[in-house]
Amino acid sequence: MKFVNYRTSHLTSLILLIVLLNLILWQTNKESSNKVTKFNKKFKIVESEKYIKVNETEQEDPWNFAKHSSIVYTWANGSIKEHQELYNKYKYNDTSLKMSFQRFRDNDELRHALRSYSKHMSWHRGNIFLVVPDGHIPHWINLKHPRLRIIFQSSIVDEEDNPTFNTNAIEQNFYRIPGISDQFIAINDDIFFGRDIEPQDFFTLDKGVNFFFGNIPIDLKKIYSHHVIASRQTTAKVLVNKYNITENIFATRHAPFVYHKAAFPILKEIFKQELKTTSTHKFRHVQDIVFPILHHYALMHEKKLKGLKYKFLEMKEMKGLKMLAVSDNEKRVLEEFEKIEIEKPKFFNLNDDYTKKHIAYLMKLFLFKSFPEKSPFET
Ligand SMILES: *[C@@H]1O[C@H](CO)[C@@H](O)[C@H](O)[C@H]1NC(C)=O
Ligand SMILES: *[C@@H]1O[C@H](CO)[C@@H](O)[C@H](O)[C@H]1NC(C)=O
Ligand SMILES: *[C@@H]1O[C@H](CO)[C@@H](O)[C@H](O)[C@H]1NC(C)=O
Ligand SMILES: *[C@@H]1O[C@H](CO)[C@@H](O)[C@H](O)[C@H]1NC(C)=O
Repeated sequence: MKFVNYRTSHLTSLILLIVLLNLILWQTNKESSNKVTKFNKKFKIVESEKYIKVNETEQEDPWNFAKHSSIVYTWANGSIKEHQELYNKYKYNDTSLKMSFQRFRDNDELRHALRSYSKHMSWHRGNIFLVVPDGHIPHWINLKHPRLRIIFQSSIVDEEDNPTFNTNAIEQNFYRIPGISDQFIAINDDIFFGRDIEPQDFFTLDKGVNFFFGNIPIDLKKIYSHHVIASRQTTAKVLVNKYNITENIFATRHAPFVYHKAAFPILKEIFKQELKTTSTHKFRHVQDIVFPILHHYALMHEKKLKGLKYKFLEMKEMKGLKMLAVSDNEKRVLEEFEKIEIEKPKFFNLNDDYTKKHIAYLMKLFLFKSFPEKSPFET
């Protein structure tokens, strides 16, 4: 009897102790888990609650900031009926529009872009933010991946400018993505990694960001009608007027863009009117500000951005960049695919200027052949 009593009281104190311990733990966890729930509610995000834990040993690594930098991918599903209807609704009110729906074709680029990332950036530990029109969640995506977050466009673009089909309107708001790192990389879903990428391909050791520019200066006098070229000129003119720039201004290459988050709100203030005008355009427009060009040149010229480091990469350092226009010329396309297989550029981009179905098939096949292994971002 005595024995049982002893056990019971022992058990009781043990239970009490456990309850007390849990209470303490719960109190400390409450704040952080509250944040997660709020965040998920606001952005309707389905994700696991696991967060990337920074390895204390890795803290010593000077590239740690790069390893934990965020990457933003943008994607849209052009096959969604509501998306097409919205597109058409706005399209016919916008006379400056010269864009075809092929921009929204899906040839599984994003899936393969993420495969190329997983294969060639295995050192990277940061979050992957996928910015999509509201509700556009790729059917194959693994929402349980601890580093993946889906961000709906409407949660970062000014309310009155939603919905938008204009990448120039979306990019200027990337800094609003909750939890995005101080330096981050933005990548279009049609850019792939052809070989292993190192942190120094994007960053400098002193937390600077690399610029990838083309080598043909922007002509400030010519009159352009195509929105892509004209908007680069618009941006260059704004920069020249603001900073009395006398040297040539170059356009950014179709490559990943590396940004300083801190520059965004400052640029939003300095170029308030120009960026707001851009934001109101539903489609890319001749009067748009091309944000990466603005960001890069402002880092070089704006006093308020002093201290944010950058590196202007010389042409010879940029050999690992390749652009590939996928046209309807099958022979040419196959030759280009072969070149990529041989050269293995660091970044390559597929510009889909084709209209024929079998070219789309060739492109899919090429992507699958290049990146056959499933990434952890797929279910
Ligand atoms: C932390 O990183 C070091 C060096 O990369 C590694 O050896 C160690 O196993 C890691 N520790 C944990 C807990 O992941
Ligand atoms: C399109 O234009 C018509 C007529 O000017 C206008 O009534 C309508 O609100 C516009 N729609 C959009 C989506 O801008
Ligand atoms: C895109 O939307 C269509 C139509 O809703 C759907 O059938 C398709 O699976 C979607 N594609 C992706 C990659 O989610
Ligand atoms: C640019 O030049 C104008 C006129 O010469 C001058 O008023 C302005 O202060 C200059 N701006 C800068 C940033 O040097």
